[in-house]
Amino acid sequence: MTHTPSRRTVLRRTDAGAAALRAGCAGGGDDDSSAASPGREPARTGDVPIAGGKVLTEEKIVVTQPRKGEFKAFSAVCTHQGCIVSDARDGTIDRARHGSGFAVADGSVVQGPATKPLPGKRITVEGNSIRLA
Ligand code: FES
Repeated sequence: MTHTPSRRTVLRRTDAGAAALRAGCAGGGDDDSSAASPGREPARTGDVPIAGGKVLTEEKIVVTQPRKGEFKAFSAVCTHQGCIVSDARDGTIDRARHGSGFAVADGSVVQGPATKPLPGKRITVEGNSIRLA
């Protein structure tokens, strides 16, 4: 026996899907809170490619290495609609849901639709250890 959904059921499901899309992104959210706690070591220097970065989804932080030995960190929550950025390479933090890109050097917008930079986050680097400040 097969079940054919009624027109009303299909419309209800479509509305629910559209509402989920409007609400933000899975794993992201509109808030900038994170699981980041000072002193934690969420990454090691070897995890972070030069001219790229490592996205720490749980901490909602992206750690970048614009130049060899120079490490920076930014919020990984996209300033457009709150998705977590998914990648950082070739000088850009990107693969955000709607195509925004941010500079690995300073978090500034290099491609919209985002208009605001990614806020900076404080880290410390001791040897090969990257810690949240
Ligand atoms: S949420 Fe990042 S580009 Fe839309």
